[in-house]
Amino acid sequence: MTQRVLLIISGGIAAYKSLELVRQLRKRGIAVRAVLTQSAKQFVTPLSLGVLTEDHVYDDLFDLKAEREIGHIQLSRQADLVVVAPATANILAKMANGIADDLATTLLLATDTPVLAVPAMNVRMWHHKATQRNLERLHADGVHIMEPDSGAMACGEFGRGRLPEPEAIAAEVQRLLALPQRADPLAGQPDFARDDLPLTGRHILITAGPTHEPIDPVRYIANRSSGKQGFAIAAAAVRAGARVTLVAGPVHLPTPPGVDRVDVETAREMLAAVAEALPADAAIMVAAVADWRAADAAEQKLKKDGSGQPAPLALIENPDILATLGRHPQRPTLLVGFAAETQNIAEHARAKLAKKGADWIVANDVSGDVMGGDANAVQIVTAAGIDSWPVMPKAQVADKLIEKVAHALTSRPD
Ligand code: CTP
Repeated sequence: MTQRVLLIISGGIAAYKSLELVRQLRKRGIAVRAVLTQSAKQFVTPLSLGVLTEDHVYDDLFDLKAEREIGHIQLSRQADLVVVAPATANILAKMANGIADDLATTLLLATDTPVLAVPAMNVRMWHHKATQRNLERLHADGVHIMEPDSGAMACGEFGRGRLPEPEAIAAEVQRLLALPQRADPLAGQPDFARDDLPLTGRHILITAGPTHEPIDPVRYIANRSSGKQGFAIAAAAVRAGARVTLVAGPVHLPTPPGVDRVDVETAREMLAAVAEALPADAAIMVAAVADWRAADAAEQKLKKDGSGQPAPLALIENPDILATLGRHPQRPTLLVGFAAETQNIAEHARAKLAKKGADWIVANDVSGDVMGGDANAVQIVTAAGIDSWPVMPKAQVADKLIEKVAHALTSRPD
């Protein structure tokens, strides 16, 4: 049966991309019916949308003909998924507060069909506390939210807030349409999607990013971890319905909507935050924890003395967070470590599995530009064997890994 999307286009400059989104969705065999807000009509015309969707385009709540023939409630209920793209800060605010003052927002309030919002806005509007608060609320209400891209914006600024590429949105729509839907879409709880998700009711604990180990007040030991893979896993776990605690080292990444984030600097702080977050059903340790720290971080800035002697810097080992969890009385049911390798990947990963008491090691080949890049090639090493995945975007690695975690958790006794 053809799957149907109700596409609500709100008024931002990114609205022009909705035409390409319609094309991408239709290419995937998905039927699209479009609704425009009044301000969206300043950016795209009902005519061009009508041609691409091969359907009537809706924009007026008081279009009596449509009200009589279809009605605003049916309009959204006939769809398998409601997609708001682009979702401006304004429409997100209305959605979060249940305001229904035009056709688009009335549909959103009246629907019990799953909703995907794809925000696009100026970087400052995105980071504004009010927007972030609205996103948290929407997430708690069960709305799926796609993280905007970052880059140059139409307004001349730079940062997060760009509408993701139509192809990426179409892929997300396809993924959501493939999720199990509630049996009776008309007679259920308002938090329709959350109950059905594979990790609903589970707590997933994730570490991400590097740690910074102080040498003196101005210097520290660090590494090149960007935190992207761990953050992507946290976002994927939320999408799968989990409660997620993300213990993050110093990185400049926005918190994925719905994630409980704890920021730390050092390995010892990371260990304390991880222990504090227990119990967890699964822990996925993605952080590149510094193996050593300065034995005595100096209170004053260290001075060179011109003697040409080695620096007065003694290093001692940091606690191993993964290994600590491996033997912890509250050990998570599933314990997953990451291992950065440049050679003999599987062999090293197997040794780590045993040494750290983990269930799986996700071995990533860092011989390319994985650190900081957007793609990753991983092998999942378990007692049962090795699962090698092709190179794919970190977001896709995250989704696949979370799928595997959900499968493992549901097929294990608690
Ligand atoms: N890890 C940790 N605490 C540490 C060091 C590592 O929790 N102090 C975790 C990492 O988060 C990761 C795994 O252990 O899940 C990586 O182990 P590690 O022994 O550091 O492996 P590599 O980084 O691959 O380094 P090496 O091969 O040098 O051992």
